[in-house]
Amino acid sequence: MKIVFSGIQPSGDLHIGNYIGAIKQWLELQKKPDHKLIFSVVDLHAITVYQEPEVLSKKIFEIAAIYLSCGVDPKKSIVFVQSANPDHTYCAWVLNCVTNFGWLTRMTQFKDKARKQGEAKTTAGLFNYPVLMAADILLYDTDLVPVGDDQVQHVELTRDIAKKFNQTYKPIFKLPKVLVKKDSARIMSLQDPLSKMSKSDPDARSRINLIDDDDAVAEKIKKAVTDSGAEIVFDPKSKPAISNLLSIYSELADKPISKLEELYRGKTYSQFKSDLTEVVLSIIRPIREAYFEYCNNKDYLAYVLNSGLEKAIEISNNKVSQINSAVGLGL
Ligand code: TYM
Repeated sequence: MKIVFSGIQPSGDLHIGNYIGAIKQWLELQKKPDHKLIFSVVDLHAITVYQEPEVLSKKIFEIAAIYLSCGVDPKKSIVFVQSANPDHTYCAWVLNCVTNFGWLTRMTQFKDKARKQGEAKTTAGLFNYPVLMAADILLYDTDLVPVGDDQVQHVELTRDIAKKFNQTYKPIFKLPKVLVKKDSARIMSLQDPLSKMSKSDPDARSRINLIDDDDAVAEKIKKAVTDSGAEIVFDPKSKPAISNLLSIYSELADKPISKLEELYRGKTYSQFKSDLTEVVLSIIRPIREAYFEYCNNKDYLAYVLNSGLEKAIEISNNKVSQINSAVGLGL
């Protein structure tokens, strides 16, 4: 039995980068018989950067609705909200006490965000963020963590923290492995193919959200930047924009990039973009329809999240007892 854990922050609307990098992998793992899957809406991670309270509390439900709309099946997978299980912050505190300060100063995501926000806005929460992520993963004896490329360093740090704890106290933590897609672990912005597609990019044209309507999708793909030269070939160094669009096409249509290069040899960017629009819509239309239904059925969502929480707590409580006994905490 392999245990899979992953999560997404309710800090904005989910986009096709989140789908391709993370959720699509979750759905593939969900099909495997001997896998136990746990997916969290990681709201405590979201508040490491200020979130409007009313928006955040709505977004938590919306992200859970998106999980289900994409095909996460609550009969097969545990879905819960991170802040509803206090074991996460408890475990994070203990792990903070074995994590070297220097390890956290080397986290590239922290450095990037801190640089962009400036010192006045950079919180200790943002600095400690990867330790909370380690707690999320280690509490459940996780074997596999399916994520996009930007989270690989955090999963490697999780392994270092687990090793340090196991050596310092008792070997109670399993070392998790990261799962990333080879060519599509980092989907780039449609407006700047050198930066990652991101929920927080102020330019809405940079990303396709999973609940965008048909016109918005068509418009964003039409306006997506392309490279000089007319060939449709995959070469991220010299043709970063078209390579990114090829990755998106290939992942969403389940066709190898080499086949697409063949198919579009001699064809124009505009033909390619119009087909890509159809491919994207074929994936996101059903997600969008299911999403609006789930959003109108708050009682069902609450039921899924509450029963997921009960199951999550049952597992994490056991790990907290092991932590307390290893460290000598509690009564
Ligand atoms: P978050 O919310 O930033 O992103 C959610 C997932 O989407 C992936 N992703 C992408 N993949 C490909 N291309 C992109 N442009 C792109 N943008 C985002 C992310 O890699 C991620 O898998 N720290 C995590 C959330 C988290 C977590 C965890 C994940 C908290 N605890 C435990 C796994 C296990 C994060 O901020 O993801």
